[in-house]
Amino acid sequence: MEVGAAPGSLRLIQLRIGRRISNPSPSFYPKVRCNLKGAGSNGVEPISQNLRMFILGMGFVGQYFAADLKQKGWVVSGTCTSTAMKMKLEQMGYDAYVFDANEPQVEVLDIMKYHTHLLISIPPVPDIGDPLLQHKELLKSRLRDGNLQWLSYLSSTRVYGDSGGAWVDEDHPIMPTSELARSRLAAEEGWSRLGQDLEIAVQIFRLGGIYGPGRSAIDTIIKKEPLSPSQRKRSSRRYTSRIHVSDICQALNASIEKPSNRRIYNIVDDDPAPRAEVFKFAQNLVKSKWQDHGREFTFPQVPETLPSEGVSTEEKRVNNARMKLELGVKLRYPTYKSGLQDITDQMSDPFVS
Ligand SMILES: NC(=O)c1ccc[n+]([C@@H]2O[C@H](COP(=O)([O-])OP(=O)(O)OC[C@H]3O[C@@H](n4cnc5c(N)ncnc54)[C@H](OP(=O)(O)O)[C@@H]3O)[C@@H](O)[C@H]2O)c1
Repeated sequence: MEVGAAPGSLRLIQLRIGRRISNPSPSFYPKVRCNLKGAGSNGVEPISQNLRMFILGMGFVGQYFAADLKQKGWVVSGTCTSTAMKMKLEQMGYDAYVFDANEPQVEVLDIMKYHTHLLISIPPVPDIGDPLLQHKELLKSRLRDGNLQWLSYLSSTRVYGDSGGAWVDEDHPIMPTSELARSRLAAEEGWSRLGQDLEIAVQIFRLGGIYGPGRSAIDTIIKKEPLSPSQRKRSSRRYTSRIHVSDICQALNASIEKPSNRRIYNIVDDDPAPRAEVFKFAQNLVKSKWQDHGREFTFPQVPETLPSEGVSTEEKRVNNARMKLELGVKLRYPTYKSGLQDITDQMSDPFVS
């Protein structure tokens, strides 16, 4: 499903994609040589100059994607909400800005506009909606006539609401069941419209539950974190869509190669398994890797049956065919099993002090 694509605008986008950065001053943005596609068949790296990603919200996905782009030669900038995080991001080699989406600083918007690519990873807030879209006229005026060519918004599969467990693709009717999901949908539409007004490529990515190194069932077990009430509630679902952060990056990279005109993509793996099953698998991985060394573990209790109160009736299985077909994504982690196995394999002994 598109959010009202305008005829002829894709051609405009394609024309703009080929454009070079002309501003701002070279001392602020030194020339870079970026490799978009990796080594060519003749072993020579195809070079594309001046590709710059601005990430609004350098959180879990933002940082993972930033690292991926940086090692390909991109210049990456992004925002966070604290000075401590800004310092950390700068140490990692990024231009970082403390930024409050409720009160956006025009200086940061002006910097943003001289990037070629913009990823929005700031979630909506209850009662407010997307905090930055409260200022959409300001955004429109400050981001116009810059170098932006590509805008992507990280959304959530929660917008689909409840399908009674049926498979849902991007054309499935949207029936958000919560205030937050309705805000998500409004944010999708708002960012999509803004991108259209700026005449740049726009993609909306509906993500399943995100996991990866440092944020997974393995980490929950190792850190001995109890499940939160909302996690317990979601545990009772028959189906939970999830996606490894590395596969989100694959999809984002693919859409940079194939920019679209307000296309929506579900970004989930092939196996919408229940959380209890995932935790059982994770517990076995932890046991077999570390309990053999004489350790005892207490594992979080994950309910396998529906609790009588606070039952989440939101059941759906999210289809990822468009992501594979149109973006050509071949999932590195098609199921939670391969994803968790890899996280465990890469993990050094977390119990050594
Ligand atoms: N986690 C999931 O399973 C899941 C599933 C589907 C979709 N999503 C969505 O996908 C996106 C990326 O997920 P993620 O897990 O990488 O998120 P995340 O780690 O929570 O990162 C969110 C980023 O947004 C920033 N932020 C939050 N409120 C802000 C505000 N008012 N002003 C400025 N910045 C603000 C945060 O800054 P600080 O960290 O400095 O506060 C952080 O950098 C998010 O929109 C998330 O809601 C998540």
